[in-house]
Amino acid sequence: NTNNSGSVSWESPSNIALIKYWGKKGYQLPCNPSISMSLKNSLTRTKLTYKTMGDGDHLSFLFEGKRQVLFEQRIAKFFESLPSQFKFLKDFQLSISSENTFPHSTGIASSASAMSSVALCLCSMEEEITGVQVENAEFYRKASLIARLGSGSASRSVYGGFVAWGESNSFPKSSDEYAVPFSEYTHPVFQDFQDAILLVSSKKKEVSSSAGHQLMVNHPYATARFAQANSHFERMLGVLKSGDLEEFVEIMENEALSLHGLMMNSTPSFTLLKPNTLELIERIRSFRLSSHIPIGFTLDAGPNIHLMYPKSEEGKVVPFIDSELSQFLEKGKYIVDEKGDGPQKI
Ligand code: PMV
Repeated sequence: NTNNSGSVSWESPSNIALIKYWGKKGYQLPCNPSISMSLKNSLTRTKLTYKTMGDGDHLSFLFEGKRQVLFEQRIAKFFESLPSQFKFLKDFQLSISSENTFPHSTGIASSASAMSSVALCLCSMEEEITGVQVENAEFYRKASLIARLGSGSASRSVYGGFVAWGESNSFPKSSDEYAVPFSEYTHPVFQDFQDAILLVSSKKKEVSSSAGHQLMVNHPYATARFAQANSHFERMLGVLKSGDLEEFVEIMENEALSLHGLMMNSTPSFTLLKPNTLELIERIRSFRLSSHIPIGFTLDAGPNIHLMYPKSEEGKVVPFIDSELSQFLEKGKYIVDEKGDGPQKI
């Protein structure tokens, strides 16, 4: 029951980190545990076609119909790092084609959705080649580990909802090797939780995340940062259960600004926040004070804001974005996404 050729397809979401992974050790292992929320509409769809080795390239990668040599090299390096059970890949010609459901350079992390969808395809291909199907929980655990080798944050994208990655005493089920879904009771306020991605700048970011993680090696605040992240991680797990949005916002915003603070005071230093990012932050905070709506922001390694709020406040928040915030956005652009249910085989 084995196959010499075939194809598998998956779509997998991007995620936004609430507790940031910043700094790595060993081979793609995090210096601190992180928590993210998987998105619903920001997806990468990937199709992996395989056939036994013949003439032609071993690996080709098309993104939105165009050959992408740089990403192809990254995928090739990723494939070389796979555990020995994936050795069979070298006997196959692989063509991968993928597309995103969201526009480029908008502050949505495409490496998380791209690498997790490729990892899921590899795990499905393994099942087809060997004829051995594993139980669901084991399949996703393996896919998360494989995704991690492609991009750390991608390990969290193989699950929907809130996801934890990285060892921690307070969440004994978590691991540095793979992510786990936060399946404990999550407070209803997080049901359909919203993430409005406010586009401050679509320019390519000037620090790659691998260079970014590198900045934490010998960073003067590294020890303090990893202690802070562990404590935030623990508190955030509690908040996801209690639904305390005031504490949620406090931790989330502190994480975002800590990430940027670390980038600003590392050597070399990076200032990825733009004047409009700060303008937006001030306006979000004063709106929160005057409206008593528990709304807060987070940031990735870039200038764009992820505005996070409960679905129930949508009717007040969207008009606020349109009337007050959109003047500070590139072409007035923002994308509203929300908590999603995780990847799908297609
Ligand atoms: O997965 P990487 O290596 O691209 O790193 C992601 C780093 C952040 O997005 C800034 C934080 C995170 O936890 O996703």
